[in-house]
Amino acid sequence: MIGPCHFVIFGATGDLSVNKLLPALYYLQREGRLPESLAFIAVSRRPWDTAQWQAFMREQLPERLGEDFDEQNFRRFSRLFSYVQVVHDCPAHYGELKLELAKPREGVCANVVFYLAVAPADFTVVVSQLDGAGLSGRLFGNRVVVEKPFGYDLDTSLQLNHHLHQHFEEEQIYRIDHYLGKETVQNLLVFRFANSLVEPIWNRNYIDHVQITVAETRGIGARAGYFDHTGALRDMVQNHMMQLLSVVAMEPPAQLDADALRDEKVKVLRSIRPIPKHAVNQFALRAQYGAGDSGPGYRDEAGVTANSMTETYVAAKFYIDNWRWSGVPFYLRTGKQLPHDRSMVSLRLKHPPQQLFRETTMEHVEPNWIVLSLQPEESMHIELQAKVPGLDMRTRTLPLRASFRSDGERPLGAYEALLLDVIEGDHSLFIRFDEVEWSWRVVDPILRTWSRETDYIHSYPAGSWGPEAASRLFDSDDQRWRNDL
Ligand code: BG6
Repeated sequence: MIGPCHFVIFGATGDLSVNKLLPALYYLQREGRLPESLAFIAVSRRPWDTAQWQAFMREQLPERLGEDFDEQNFRRFSRLFSYVQVVHDCPAHYGELKLELAKPREGVCANVVFYLAVAPADFTVVVSQLDGAGLSGRLFGNRVVVEKPFGYDLDTSLQLNHHLHQHFEEEQIYRIDHYLGKETVQNLLVFRFANSLVEPIWNRNYIDHVQITVAETRGIGARAGYFDHTGALRDMVQNHMMQLLSVVAMEPPAQLDADALRDEKVKVLRSIRPIPKHAVNQFALRAQYGAGDSGPGYRDEAGVTANSMTETYVAAKFYIDNWRWSGVPFYLRTGKQLPHDRSMVSLRLKHPPQQLFRETTMEHVEPNWIVLSLQPEESMHIELQAKVPGLDMRTRTLPLRASFRSDGERPLGAYEALLLDVIEGDHSLFIRFDEVEWSWRVVDPILRTWSRETDYIHSYPAGSWGPEAASRLFDSDDQRWRNDL
């Protein structure tokens, strides 16, 4: 296929670009995975020329790449870039960008990718200006990549989508959720659908409940400006965690093409039982970290308002009212300043129906678990019960654990995979608007209730596993949060 000839990064000097996009592009270039004809244009408000931009990258990248930074390779990488100053609402600057794009280049060129690594509030102005400058390239298939958060709630996401569609066709739009680029997330599909051992038990007949945990040790760092009016529900649950949930719960798609996959994910999101307004706090709980072993409290972080009610932790329970999952609770939990970086999907199986060992010294037999660790450890893990050797009839848990990656296999970063897909025009791992919309429909009742209740938020010490009260979401006494692998 004919790839794009230009890849334009808006917000090139920002955190996302410096921490994620540039390192990913560096690796792709180093490994010869970028089309020969591809050139990059870095765009930001700073009145720089290309040499200044290259000096900026030289300053930033060594820290991000560590020992993978290599001077010679950096020079090759850096030569692929030019720089154009664009103040987002200045039409003349888009004229400059257009001139840069029109410069003759060698090789087969088809279209342009515009990556909007900018503040969400600027999405609309940038897309209008691109179109105004004649750069939307409907006929050539130019592409626009939009980062999360896509909207601030259901209404604003609908408005944003409407606005995007006035300037770009749906096939041109790539809504990115970098969790879908993680190999371990894609492995969930393989684990489920390539193993006859697994798929038959992946349903309400065998699964007692499902837990999806994304725990982070970091606090909000320098991101108060963004986070304090976003909160963990919008930042993590509406997008990354809803995506994880839909991959865990979806039916096998008819094929592996973009639309078949996305159709199945949307069916899951549409089947999530709406949380009634009056019962929000029975289904969801928010909390904020206070001072603790690992640092100061959230309200003492630089840039956070003194009486902020923004949640840094969310735990919630959802039911998927379909044939496969009816009655099985899905418990989702995410938080900042928790004791470990750990993202995992854990499925607890039901107890065997016959209590055969009741009369023996085995007082209690632990249930089986399937635990898929997504990061930082990438592993699959099944817990069975086995007899403790000896005369007594006692059991112990026998963990069967397999690492997802063999020694020496370098993990392909989520952004590397996704950037390559944009360049190759593959939408499978990008979000269609109906997925965004239905995820907002799921979390919107919670957002609305919390925005009205401004007098109480749970607290947990920084460095702990969150508030005790999160356990009250469980449907039965023998369910508890699984923190360990
Ligand atoms: C981002 C959120 O989308 O994902 C951050 O805005 C969060 O708050 C990050 O820390 C987590 O991503 P990862 O890949 O480090 O798990």
